Amino acid sequence: KNYKIAVIAGDGIGKEVVPEGQRVVEAAARRFGFSVDWTEFDWNCDYYARHGRMMPEDGVEQVRGADAIFLGAVGWPTVPDHISTWDLILKLRRELGLYVALRPARLLKGIVSPLAGRTAKDIDFVIVRENSEGEYSAAGGLLYEGTSEEMVIQESVFSKRAIDRILRYAFDLARTRRKKVSLATKSNGIKIAMPYWDARFAAIAREYPDVAHDKFHIDILTAHFVVHPDWFDVVVGSNLFGDILSDLGPAVAGSIGIAPSGNIDPSRTNPSMFEPVHGSAPDIAGQGIANPIGQIWAAAMMLEHLGELEAAKAIETAIESVIGGNGPRTRDLGGNAATVEAGKAIAEALA
Ligand code: NAI
Ligand code: MG
Repeated sequence: KNYKIAVIAGDGIGKEVVPEGQRVVEAAARRFGFSVDWTEFDWNCDYYARHGRMMPEDGVEQVRGADAIFLGAVGWPTVPDHISTWDLILKLRRELGLYVALRPARLLKGIVSPLAGRTAKDIDFVIVRENSEGEYSAAGGLLYEGTSEEMVIQESVFSKRAIDRILRYAFDLARTRRKKVSLATKSNGIKIAMPYWDARFAAIAREYPDVAHDKFHIDILTAHFVVHPDWFDVVVGSNLFGDILSDLGPAVAGSIGIAPSGNIDPSRTNPSMFEPVHGSAPDIAGQGIANPIGQIWAAAMMLEHLGELEAAKAIETAIESVIGGNGPRTRDLGGNAATVEAGKAIAEALA
């Protein structure tokens, strides 16, 4: 099989870790007998400096025919983050209908959780974030500008269609795992939207009598992630709650530099997009010291989505054999290896 992959390395360490992800995919391709055509797109904040936009007007159409999109990180201090994010990542997510953001939080062998005493058996859950609407809306505006009453109104939008499909995705996913779904809510404070989420959750849960379910307000849920990570299997939430949880989850599972993420169109009409959780890390960019594992694990998620299950599993095993053994570790994991050394070691472990 041959896969067409659109590559957007983006900014900062995105440009350093993406080649390591590609190196590992190539090693997996040789071992498992598939091939990959990479098409690279230089859409980033430098592109913005030249063109006044993050990608061409028909950018979405240029990647629509790919089998998947492999993204590094987008954002640089020269461009306001809300512009670089909305004009590229959010545009791709929305126009391609990538309505599920999937983030595993799993403690790998060889990684020490910042939670004292926690081992791999305690931390293995997945965050399913609604990725298409909700709190991240452009509805609202500035009122009474320049007066003492100046204010902004920002609307949240929650449709039954979007809530139900993300909840069903979470329950379907739980069926392939330990059969439990937890909802992030805030129905005590957000008094219209969140009781509605609770009601839809109860309704969808009735379609899955074999899957256990519970719900927590977002504030206490963040505390439980830290104190009782072993309670969770699949955690589902709105765009904002899911965003917060999807940084916290990987953090309890070690370094932000190792966490992967998928933006998925479950209908498979359009290419899904895979990226590390971290951003462009301007503070360490250009030094060749970024951890490539988030990008490499994202590559494994991409291959799993494409149906290369053995290759995906083998990449995860290779990551664990390198960091769980005496392999090179980058600084964030307490070593002093370069990005390239860490990437090469994982590719070699696959051969
Ligand atoms: P960040 O993830 O880039 O950095 C946060 C901290 O983690 C920094 O100290 C950084 O050095 C460290 N870090 C991140 N990835 C690492 C890695 N692979 N290895 C070792 N250390 C790593 O988040 P920050 O600073 O909030 O954002 C920087 C830029 O990235 C902003 O422009 C932001 O908008 C963008 N960003 C883009 C994302 C994306 O493309 N999906 C996601 C998050 C941020
Ligand atoms: Mg985030």
